[in-house]
Amino acid sequence: MAAFIADYYKDIETYPVRSQVEPGYLHRLLPDSAPHFPEPLTTILDDVRNDILPGLTHWQSPNFFAYFQANASNPGILDEMLCAALNVVGFNWISSPAATELETLVMDWMAKFLRLPREFTFASGGGGVIHGSTCEAVVCTMAAARDAASARIGFEGITRLVIYASDQTHFTFQKASKLVGIPPANFRMITTSARSEHALPPESVHAAMDEDLARGLVPLYICATVGTTAVGAVDPLAPLGELAREYGTWARHNLMDHIRSDVEMAEQFERMVGTDEKFEVVATRRFALVCFRLRPKKRGSCEMNRKLLEAVNASGRAFMTQAVVEGKYVLRMAIGATLTEERHVLEAWKVIQEMADGIISEEDQ
Ligand SMILES: Cc1ncc(COP(=O)(O)O)c(C=O)c1O
Repeated sequence: MAAFIADYYKDIETYPVRSQVEPGYLHRLLPDSAPHFPEPLTTILDDVRNDILPGLTHWQSPNFFAYFQANASNPGILDEMLCAALNVVGFNWISSPAATELETLVMDWMAKFLRLPREFTFASGGGGVIHGSTCEAVVCTMAAARDAASARIGFEGITRLVIYASDQTHFTFQKASKLVGIPPANFRMITTSARSEHALPPESVHAAMDEDLARGLVPLYICATVGTTAVGAVDPLAPLGELAREYGTWARHNLMDHIRSDVEMAEQFERMVGTDEKFEVVATRRFALVCFRLRPKKRGSCEMNRKLLEAVNASGRAFMTQAVVEGKYVLRMAIGATLTEERHVLEAWKVIQEMADGIISEEDQ
């Protein structure tokens, strides 16, 4: 198995980054019911190689520039192997004392690493838990905020609780507010614009809160994001934090861990886009995310940019995603895969240019 994984990494650049299969492909390859008898590992790995790998989008590929990457590392892989082998179950202290205590210690290390105030550490009466995903963390913090408010205004007051976020906030947040029972009409999606670099304007939150208070509603929670999904916008944490304090609401910070070399590669990519007049960078680059498109006045349009993205992804040589920013369809180049080097970024730019030239000459005919 370890050899299989090592080979996968050795060959990773040979796989098309975005899976090229059609929906339902696996049903045609695998039997309808589970095998009656065990099969040797070599046979199983052959099935993985032949049937499963083609159906994977290769998140570990250095040519993966979609979504936000950097969520698996060699130490992480070994760590998961060790945990699975030891079958560590940690639902309370005695079920695995070391798991609970290690989590507590690591949380405090993280708090110090991020230079959070001392109150955030277990050692000073704070503390927290490690969640498997952002979605889980959002649901839990929102439920905690709801419960604290319910203790003040009564549980029936749930219909009066209001959540504030921007139109750039991840859709997770809306789902989470539904899950914890906040009426959808009490979700305030504040409009952002290029003027404020798509950050959540504190004055708009302030005005929305005052309006809600005047209607007898209760401001509950403000979501501030560092690195929004579409354009990497950074909400102003300090003024939003002040507002949260003033109105007794909760605030959440979504810190994106970014690696210096990724940011440098993104700067380089941004410069390359800037030197080709067919293209334009659409939003201010943040961290390692560059949002760009074919220029609309000369050549581009939403449709052309959609075609361009599909052509790049269908080539299997790079994988990117899109966002719609103020009605503009933009391509997102998010650099963050562990194995990405400068040469992969240069190659991706070459693929983008090749595909763009192809699309433009097709249009011209
Ligand atoms: C800003 C932001 N928030 C939340 C999420 C959801 O993250 P998760 O999959 O960890 O729940 C994402 C995913 O890309 C994101 O970009």
